[in-house]
Parts: sequence; structure tokens; C-alpha cells
Amino acid sequence: MNVVVLLGAPGAGKGTQAPLLAARLGIPVVATGDIFRAAVRDGTPLGMEARRYMDAGQLVPDEITVKLLLDRLARPDAAAGVILDGFPRTGVQAQALDKALAERGQAVSAAVLVDVPADELERRMSGRWICRASGHPYHETFSPPKSAGVCDLDGSDLYQRADDRPETIRARLDQQLGALTEVIDHYRASGVIASVDGLQGIDAVGAAIDVALSEHGVAPLAGQVS
Ligand code: AP5
Ligand code: MG
Repeated sequence: MNVVVLLGAPGAGKGTQAPLLAARLGIPVVATGDIFRAAVRDGTPLGMEARRYMDAGQLVPDEITVKLLLDRLARPDAAAGVILDGFPRTGVQAQALDKALAERGQAVSAAVLVDVPADELERRMSGRWICRASGHPYHETFSPPKSAGVCDLDGSDLYQRADDRPETIRARLDQQLGALTEVIDHYRASGVIASVDGLQGIDAVGAAIDVALSEHGVAPLAGQVS
């Protein structure tokens, strides 16, 4: 079973790479940000709670996020492996994931950092549009949709995230980069960290992720085309 963690600062390109990698590896993506945004859209108690933190550019507390993620990992579609986008985001979350996987005789296979310098992150987030149905990301300059305002993949309309306002972008970068360092250190200590240059084009970043994963023994499931 492959458990792949995609790490990166806000706007680094995790959500762009995750579905492409999922298609290559034949395992699903679990993205905590997408789960929180769906809960906000549906007006659930989880969504109302999470929104307070998201709108302020802060991380949602570990006790809420860990439970949500572990419940999601227990679903049958994650049994053959999973790509985690946006989790873990703190040392506490990384330890909780290790513990839950160890109880199933499993472990994180690889944690790939998509490395992008801070000045570029702001540019990426401020030009981002995502689709309403599944959160597929586009960028008005770097990765525009074929038809303005419409998702290439599922035809739903594109919108700008509430937390991509300039002041919230700055708050996310100020408040979340320290915790990312904790998570990188955690996976460096367990020997599963890899880093790819996220400043390259989207296809080149994907190719670099594939190389990094194969060095950690992560290969497509039998029958999948890589
Ligand atoms: P989340 O949705 O996870 O947001 P994030 O980590 O801030 O990351 P983003 O989604 O902003 O960036 P990304 O790396 O996915 O970049 P993307 O591919 O879109 O979390 C949102 C909030 O939820 C958090 O702030 C927090 O409040 C809460 N939360 C979520 N998980 C949590 C957790 N575990 N614990 C606590 N709280 C949690 O790309 C960005 C843009 O760049 C796009 O426009 C894209 O088209 C473009 N782009 C991508 N790659 C390239 C490239 N190679 N070249 C040029 N442009 C590119
Ligand atoms: Mg994302």
C-alpha cells in the first residue's frame, strides 16, 4: 500500500499535482482543504467551525483535523493507498498519521516537498481560479482553462477562493510556514522526505515527483499506465 504525502507551502502546487499523480498511481487523493471547503459550502457544523480559521489564514485545530482525516482514511477506497494533499500540516498531525498507519502495519511511503520560494507563492494564489465541482485549480496566466470560467475536466464554473484575498494570502504564509518546517523535519527524521523544484512547469514538476517516488519504491499499481 502506497501512502504518499504531498508537502508544500500554500500555493506551491499540491492541488495541481495531486489528481495528476492519482491518475498515474491509481489511488485516490484526500485533500483536507477540499473537505473543509465542501463542509463550508454545505453549511455543516464542521464547515462553520473550520471557516473561522480558514478565513483568518490559520490552521484548523489538530483535534478536528486529525479525526476528520483518520475517518476518511478508514473508508474502503483508501485501502489500496492514498495521496494526501494538505495533511499533515503540523508535527502533531504527522505523529497521529504515523500511529494510525502503524496500527494497520503501514507507514508513509514518501513525503514529497514541492519547493517554491515565497515570492512566487503569492503570485500563484492571487491568480488562482478553482472549479466548483471538484476544486481543480487553474491560474489566469500560468495554467488558464481552455474556455474562460469553465473547468476543462468537469465543465463546472470557476471561482476564486475566499482565502485567496491578498490579506488572507499573507496571513496564511505568515502563520503556516513554521508548521510546514516541523512536518519536513518529521519526515526527514524518518527517512522518507524528498524534494522537487516546484518552480518548473506543471509537467516537469510531475516528472520530478515520479522520479522522487520511484527512489522511495512507490510505483503505479499493477494495470495502471504511468
Ligand atoms: P488548502 O486547501 O490545503 O490550502 P493550502 O495548503 O494553503 O494550499 P493551496 O491549496 O492554497 O495551494 P496548492 O499547493 O494546492 O496549490 P495549487 O495547486 O492550487 O487549505 C486551506 C485551508 O484549510 C488552510 O489555510 C487551513 O485553514 C485549512 N486546512 C487544510 N488542511 C489543514 C490541516 N491539515 N490542518 C489544519 N488546517 C488545515 O496551485 C496554486 C496556483 O498555482 C494555481 O493557480 C495553479 O494553477 C498554479 N500552479 C500550480 N503549479 C504551477 C506551476 N508548476 N507553474 C505555474 N503555476 C502553477
Ligand atoms: Mg490545494
